[in-house]
Amino acid sequence: MYYHIQSIPLTDLAEQFGTPLYVYDANKIIEKISILRDSFKNVNLKIKYACKANTNLAILKLMRKHGVEIDVVSPEELRLAMMAGFEGSQITFTPSGVSFDEIELAAELGTRINLDNLDVLEKFGQRFGNTKGALIRLKPHVFGGGNEKIMTAHPESKFGISIHQKDEILAIVEKYDMKIIGLHQHTGSDVKNADAFTKAASAILEMAFSFKDLEIIDLGGGFKVAYQEGDVVTDMKEVGEILTNAFLNFSKKYGRELQLWFEPGKFLVSESGTFLTTANVVKTDPIKTFVGVNSGLNHLGRPMMYGAYHDIFNASNQDETEQNEYRVVGYICETDTFSWTPEGKQGERLMNKVKAGDIIAMKNAGAYCFSMASQYNSRLLPAEVLVIDGEAKLIRKRDTFEDIVRNLVDVEI
Ligand code: LLP
Repeated sequence: MYYHIQSIPLTDLAEQFGTPLYVYDANKIIEKISILRDSFKNVNLKIKYACKANTNLAILKLMRKHGVEIDVVSPEELRLAMMAGFEGSQITFTPSGVSFDEIELAAELGTRINLDNLDVLEKFGQRFGNTKGALIRLKPHVFGGGNEKIMTAHPESKFGISIHQKDEILAIVEKYDMKIIGLHQHTGSDVKNADAFTKAASAILEMAFSFKDLEIIDLGGGFKVAYQEGDVVTDMKEVGEILTNAFLNFSKKYGRELQLWFEPGKFLVSESGTFLTTANVVKTDPIKTFVGVNSGLNHLGRPMMYGAYHDIFNASNQDETEQNEYRVVGYICETDTFSWTPEGKQGERLMNKVKAGDIIAMKNAGAYCFSMASQYNSRLLPAEVLVIDGEAKLIRKRDTFEDIVRNLVDVEI
């Protein structure tokens, strides 16, 4: 539990900016960047922030200021990255199943592109030959990730070109004399055991000997962070050591040292975020007590989408002598429980006594929370605040009704 962010009380933030409100702590992000750098200090490391986790411009600028580059998945993320000041060469485009127009656009802007199917590889070869380098996204046939929906490297995954299609890949590369500058893989999200990373890395490094122009090995993201006390997380020291050794051994055999890239999202931003809501009602029912807050699955969808656990606490009441079990729910007109159990079921949380008007805070709200929010039930998207150098800065205004109707075309019916 924490009641302050950089010495600003959460309740003050709620009062100043209103709720629902996303608040991000810049110090936490900076700390995570240095943990990652430290874990891979013996290799030529580049961190490419997977900005799908949180695309707020201020977060992108913060990454850039701290020497982190960026991974994007759509032309719009690409434009946001450029708005934040990233140059084409600092941007990686890792799309899945997009039209070739998007790939062409990204290539013309000078980004590094991860080609993820044979058809696109062939088109890239036809269009650019050896005039532009590209990376290939491989599917290493490895199981890793917190749940089925966020596993990306297993045999049935839609992502990447299977390592079993090596001959087809090499035939296309040779046919168009392509310059393949890197190999990429991404195991999944919430990958806690070093084993999955090691297996995926070995598959990629073994394949790498078949490509002579490599500059980059990109091992994706997916490091697991703690969502609750005592949670098993990726042991960065262990993963750092294992992958560094494997990579340096490979480099020796390959004949030169390449750059090692990672593209984490959650690891860098999840823990920086706190979602502040207000308890609208405390509803006592014969079986359980509900706390209904002024938000729902429209703003923070991870619990309902993945059964994800987010710590929840009463930021308005630090008195631990009176606690109750509460089921924390949203205001959406379908079931939208925030309080899931560690076993992935809807449940209750022990919280300091809640009364209507209290500020209910949810942790780990920095990654895939605002970026997956919607206007469902015609509700307004929340505001976002970044606390940096002890100061709370508004980095996104709360939606207004105009944002909901902006693109509606009012036709005569
Ligand atoms: N690289 C690629 C190619 C990816 O697809 C992803 C995430 C990442 C990197 C970053 O993964 P991370 O380090 O954040 O785990 N919405 C889900 C997570 C979806 C991840 C999609 N791809 C969630 O809230 O759990």
